Amino acid sequence: MLKSRKYLLMLLVGLLMSVLLIGCSGDGEEDTSGDNDTDTTEDDSEDTSSDGVNVGIVLPTRDEPRWVQDEQRFKDALADSDYTTEILFSQGSSANELQNVETLISRGIDVLIISPQDGDAAGAAARAANLEGIPVISYDRLITNTDAVDYYVTFDSLAVGEAQGQYLVDNVEGEGVPLYLYAGAASDNNAFLFFEGAWSVLQPKIADGTFVVANSSIAEELSDTQELTRDDMGRILGQITTNWDPNEAINKAQTHLTSAGPELKGDIAILAPNDGTARSIADTFAADSEVTNYVITGQDAEKASIQYIIDGKQSMTVFKDVRRLVEDAMGMAITILDGDTPETTGAYDNGSVEVPALQSEVIVVDEENVQSELIDSGYYEASEFTGLE
Ligand code: BGC
Repeated sequence: MLKSRKYLLMLLVGLLMSVLLIGCSGDGEEDTSGDNDTDTTEDDSEDTSSDGVNVGIVLPTRDEPRWVQDEQRFKDALADSDYTTEILFSQGSSANELQNVETLISRGIDVLIISPQDGDAAGAAARAANLEGIPVISYDRLITNTDAVDYYVTFDSLAVGEAQGQYLVDNVEGEGVPLYLYAGAASDNNAFLFFEGAWSVLQPKIADGTFVVANSSIAEELSDTQELTRDDMGRILGQITTNWDPNEAINKAQTHLTSAGPELKGDIAILAPNDGTARSIADTFAADSEVTNYVITGQDAEKASIQYIIDGKQSMTVFKDVRRLVEDAMGMAITILDGDTPETTGAYDNGSVEVPALQSEVIVVDEENVQSELIDSGYYEASEFTGLE
């Protein structure tokens, strides 16, 4: 089935190229989405055409180290592979994302691995692949409210949030500790899972007075509600979202600090959803002379945040081993290319269907175990950091 579709696609591509050649006088090397890496591994697999691509990979943005790291880990994993791949970035735009998927379809991909910019909007890109009979693997972020997604490869995102919440609970002292809550983008299903996980741990400690929510009136209102609905979370996220943007995180943190009285300063706790926003928020709080000490979370084990942890500027990160995620995603893609059904360990409801999923675990990293988890394990080189013992 895959092969006959490929021949049909090659025919179509040929047709499209002749039309383009007639229509344009350009150099034919145009990069449609502006900032893409069109690095394609060598084509030595027997069933591909000379410029065919087996697996198309679409990642959200090059502007965050998290996704540049995924790109690198894909390249490392594919260095000796017989399969050809192409990685394109959507640069924060669902329109680019759709265009990227269309480009990859025209290159003859047999499997699409995609981490959506916006879970709902990516339904159109998934549908475009689905209509061509191309299986779609949602990568790290779930494509929502469509049945055009076949599999999901992910970390345990609820566990990420739980670990963040638990770290704050375990590392503050006393009663009435001001708690600043921040979250990811509401267009990303993960932002809800992270918040849900964190809330499950933090809520009892808000209800019993250990924490006082400092920056969300809706979270305060809901402080006795252990299980929030998606709608409840959406309302809280509306107040505390960073949109995954470090600059937006700085602006929000500054606004919150400006309106906070001295009783909401001193020794505080901060739920920051990921490393990029954690560094911005930490710097903003550190610059406030009335903040005497802060405990702040993160996730992704970005190099810059590992340095922050070593320097005592960020308290923890949740390490998500991208090598494992890449291995799972490529393993799944290759199983599909071989005509077999990939193994899954559960399913995620995407609002339309239950998407079969393969999930991997996460690890909490702070100054105590940064050496063993990230350096001794070979994930990073000691020489990439200063101040490591
Ligand atoms: C990913 C995080 C990442 C965030 C911002 C989430 O979907 O799971 O690892 O930090 O998006 O890009």
